[in-house]
Amino acid sequence: MRYESITEAIGNTPLVRIDPAVHGLRHIDLYAKLELLNPFGSVKDRAAWNMARPGLAAAAEHGSQVVELSSGNTAKALAVIAGMHGLPFKSVTNRMRIPEIKDLLLLLGADIEELPGQSECLDPTNTEDPLTLFHRELSEPGSSYLHTDQYFNPRNTEAHATGTGPEIVKDLDGRAPDWFVACVGTAGSSTGVARVLREHDPRVQVVGLVAAKSDFIPGIRTLDEVHEVGLFDPATYDTVESVTSDEAIEGMLTLARRCGILAGPTGGAAYFGTVRHLGSLDAQLTESQQSDPGARRSAVFIVCDRIESYLSYTRRRRPDLFRQPPRRNDPADLTDAEVAAAPAVDTPDAQKWIERDRPLVVDLRSPFAYAALHIEGAINIVDELFDELVRGGLPFSTRQPVLLVCPVGEQSARYAALLTRMGHPDVRSLTGGVIAWRDAGAPLVRD
Ligand SMILES: Cc1ncc(COP(=O)(O)O)c(C=O)c1O
Repeated sequence: MRYESITEAIGNTPLVRIDPAVHGLRHIDLYAKLELLNPFGSVKDRAAWNMARPGLAAAAEHGSQVVELSSGNTAKALAVIAGMHGLPFKSVTNRMRIPEIKDLLLLLGADIEELPGQSECLDPTNTEDPLTLFHRELSEPGSSYLHTDQYFNPRNTEAHATGTGPEIVKDLDGRAPDWFVACVGTAGSSTGVARVLREHDPRVQVVGLVAAKSDFIPGIRTLDEVHEVGLFDPATYDTVESVTSDEAIEGMLTLARRCGILAGPTGGAAYFGTVRHLGSLDAQLTESQQSDPGARRSAVFIVCDRIESYLSYTRRRRPDLFRQPPRRNDPADLTDAEVAAAPAVDTPDAQKWIERDRPLVVDLRSPFAYAALHIEGAINIVDELFDELVRGGLPFSTRQPVLLVCPVGEQSARYAALLTRMGHPDVRSLTGGVIAWRDAGAPLVRD
């Protein structure tokens, strides 16, 4: 195999059968589409190359900067592609949460601009979100950037409709699988592949996977965020299901230890979600197959990227895998009932409480969001750091009342429940978070 350029090595990834002794499905052949074997390491190499390619010559002529709103794989692929064409690359994001990827981007020469945002996901309807404002500026005619615009660019989806999807059909001897399962980030890969598979066989069942509410699986949306993504169309999926980060890591371990597939957490999530979804369907097939014993079914899931970038992510959630003591005081261990019962206070009462008792106001958002606007007197302890502090025990005196603040009041409720369980007598969550505070017209200050 000889190539003139590394970009020619993008695509044509293997479709590998998972050993039935591992997945346990008796009537379904399960295949992994190994997007982790793309040259820059992920499924996003296809989209990045397809989106950037048409603009590269003009960008080189004008010395434009390549820009994308990404904190992960798209940024990684674009940083390489831009560098190969002598162009600077800037990744704009509200938070780089995976240190290995941030370091790699810096190593590749990327510029990283961290702007405040309400969530990791761009919300185009919110005109006050600085990320949205930046996105609009980039998309204006005459912009001097080459903005690849992965959340809205049809060439993202097209990369998979012309590449990933047809490759799956070809490797299944011209047939579509009965099930196709993919994690949803921008929705480009699942949308493009699903379109092609349905053209071959409209009966294919498409399962989209997202992270569970308030959970974090790097690279994909949560159930709440997914509807905000420009390319996401609910009609693409027969069902959208959620996977927790613990389940994603379980899947990742199975793929790595038993299948020799060194997938990252979204590959693990895809494997876990696929086997869970198909488990009961497989049991039903047992009976129907007695009348047609030759009719085996097939399913394909996508393995998006590689394990190496997620060692610190995995260590935080599963220290036992690194021979470290088990995690303590973990918000993930709370029951739904405990979170629902967390002490909370709405904006008018919180204002009165601050006036009267001067609770310590702890803002759990990113430093960028905090710097842009926060409640006067609040201190900023970003959620990841807060998580570390809490693992060591109660971080505040029990005599000090505490008001916890986050974007929409979900994370603060979890920590209020946790600190209450740990024995703090007066910790409350701001109901609806900074958004509700702002919407109530309560004052916010800027640094
Ligand atoms: C690690 C990882 N997995 C899965 C996905 C999902 O891909 P898509 O954006 O095509 O929905 C992404 C996309 O950002 C990703 O980075």
